[in-house]
Formats: sequence, structure tokens, C-alpha cells
Amino acid sequence: MAEQVTMNQDGTAAIESDGVRRRDFINIAAVSFAGVGGATVLIPLITQMAPSKDVLAQASTEVDVSAVEPGQAIKTVWRKQPMFIRNLTPAEIDAANKVDVGSLRDPQTLAERTLEGKTNWLVTLGVCTHLGCVPLGAAQGEVKGEFGGYFCPCHGSHYDTAARIRKGPAPTNLVVPEYEFLSDTVIKIG
Ligand code: FES
Repeated sequence: MAEQVTMNQDGTAAIESDGVRRRDFINIAAVSFAGVGGATVLIPLITQMAPSKDVLAQASTEVDVSAVEPGQAIKTVWRKQPMFIRNLTPAEIDAANKVDVGSLRDPQTLAERTLEGKTNWLVTLGVCTHLGCVPLGAAQGEVKGEFGGYFCPCHGSHYDTAARIRKGPAPTNLVVPEYEFLSDTVIKIG
């Protein structure tokens, strides 16, 4: 077997034998060992990264809406994001239903954005779909914009009584999360 001494780039010597340098072999062996070591430490790491019970509990939130009168809204927090829960008046429901859905930037009916038999309850994220500001209109006395829903003061987006975008730069309606009624007065979001 022919052996030959060559110089590596770092100035150390390497012995070349049949075209395979021993130094390369040592490097390959070291990498393989590191790979095995990586796999064994990964398992405890993944276990540590599993969500705790506290985090899982925050995945959903329950809200008692019994005190929210028609025409009022409340703000809550779900997964660290502001949420609006609004009890629409019959006039606000009518206003939403009168809109030509085909003319909307993000066409959706009020019925599609609420639960069957509960169209007066509008549950949305309180996050403007333009750049994420919190729109006004949920708290008493706040301006609701030109369409009576929500108004984002950051760049002037107006949402209607179904929280659909009607004017301004926001591209889509306020997001409706997954939610359900646990009873007549308790909503579970998430
Ligand atoms: S963030 Fe709401 S209009 Fe820009």
C-alpha cells in the first residue's frame, strides 16, 4: 500500500494512502460520533419543550358575557391577543345584512362570521389586519368609524358592524377565532 506525506492547508502533515487521507477519515469519524451524540441529547430537549399545563390552559379562554347588553362590547385577551366580544343591536344586525356582500373587499356575510342562532354575538380579534394596531369601538365612548363597527386610528381603517373592512388600508376583515357557547352566557374561545 503506497503512503505519501502531504501538507494540509493549516500546515499540518497528513498521510495519504490509496487516495484516502487518514486525516479525512478521522474527521468523518468525529462528525459521525457528534451525530449520535446529537440524537441522544435531542430527546430530553424535546421533552423540555412540550407545553406545560399552564400554557395549554391559555390555549382557550372562557368569558361570561351575561352582563354585555345589546350595543355594548367587551375586551378580553386570548393567547396574549386582544379580543372583542360584541352584542349587536337589531339595528346593527340589519345594517350588516343590508350590505351588498359582493361589493366588499373581503366578502363575508354576518351569518358566516357568527354562530347560528347567535348572530348578535360578534367575536373577533381586536387586531387591525393592516399592521396590527388595536382598533377603537369596543369600549364605551370610543369612535366606531364611518360604518359603526370599529375604527383603527393608526392609518384610518373603518370596519362595519360585522367587523368587515369597508374603508382604509386593512386588507381583510377582523379575524373571527374558533369559539363556541358553553351555555347561553359563557363563550369559550379557542
Ligand atoms: S394598523 Fe390599522 S389601519 Fe394601519
